[in-house]
Amino acid sequence: NNCFKILAIESSCDDTACAIIRSDGMVLGEKVHSQKEHVHFGGVVPEIAARAHMHHLPFLVNSLLDEAKVSWCQIDAIAATCGPGLIGGVIVGSSFAKGLALSKKIPFIGINHIEAHALTVRLPDISNKKIEFPYLLFLTSGGHCQCIYVDDVGKYQHLGGTIDDAAGEAFDKVAKMLGLPWPGGPALEALAKEGNENAFIMPHPLYGRDGCDFSFSGLKTAVANLLEPYKDLSCLPRSLAADIAASFQKTITDTIINRLENAIQMAPKTKILATAGGVAANQYLKFHLMRLASQYNMEFIAPPIRYCTDNAVMIGWTAIEILKKTITNNFIPNDIDLIPR
Ligand code: KG4
Ligand code: ZN
Repeated sequence: NNCFKILAIESSCDDTACAIIRSDGMVLGEKVHSQKEHVHFGGVVPEIAARAHMHHLPFLVNSLLDEAKVSWCQIDAIAATCGPGLIGGVIVGSSFAKGLALSKKIPFIGINHIEAHALTVRLPDISNKKIEFPYLLFLTSGGHCQCIYVDDVGKYQHLGGTIDDAAGEAFDKVAKMLGLPWPGGPALEALAKEGNENAFIMPHPLYGRDGCDFSFSGLKTAVANLLEPYKDLSCLPRSLAADIAASFQKTITDTIINRLENAIQMAPKTKILATAGGVAANQYLKFHLMRLASQYNMEFIAPPIRYCTDNAVMIGWTAIEILKKTITNNFIPNDIDLIPR
């Protein structure tokens, strides 16, 4: 048939990932290695991440091809993240991909990581029907927090973003203050289930202001102040920790919803609210996003969590979207500048 196959590589943070995807959207195989090397540092160490990508990529790609039963001669192009991301990992992944493309004499396609998150919802694997443009995307992870109006492949409008921390970063930092293991988001959500979300009033940065920028660092400070008397965390009662976790989760969610209401006003034609990024795994946030969408008669779409977090399928899918659009113009993109975070 006329389908082409893309080998895709993602290495912009702490997930080493590769996938093979066919131009009709069928995922033929995928592998993700989530680096454990950073756990005892309580955060991603860029140089360690880059070295780990370098170490894992060859094994991962080899076993991917083996398991998917795809041979090199069946791969038509190689795509890799060219940023934004931790630049060491981006250089490792994209150089590895370029070297492979050169040796196999096939095109290399550089992909923007944010664009890939933005186009993931159109992956046929995600819902039964193809999501049409335009849509509103709330991208929320440890590294990104922004709202994008997605008009078409290559046509994006940044409606607003964080002026300090990303939402995931705020979850991680507050979780760390509460003595929870890294990455803190899932642990904090679990603890919050035991707590009273109205126990503490916390600041709602930018709430009620125009636009759809976000700010979360004040929340972190509010939690630090509450924890001031508990320098020794072993004296912190679990019920109090749970109340703080629940109040934090409620406050950050309220703030996000308020900012997104503005985003919806800024993009009145949009009938779809989509989300992506690791924080989209949070059930409490997801529930409120869904409610917001229904209030505005919008459809809410959240990809399965493995496609919300960093993955290579989204890189391959973006290459396919770009190729389908540009091949018709007799132009095949193959290189873009590397961008740091
Ligand atoms: O997309 P991702 O895997 O990596 C990047 O940061 O690019 O997102 C990871 C982030 C971390 O900050 C993690 O704490 C957060 O997503 N996260 C959550 C939850 N699961 C993951 N935050 C809140 N609630 C969760 N259930
Ligand atoms: Zn990402």
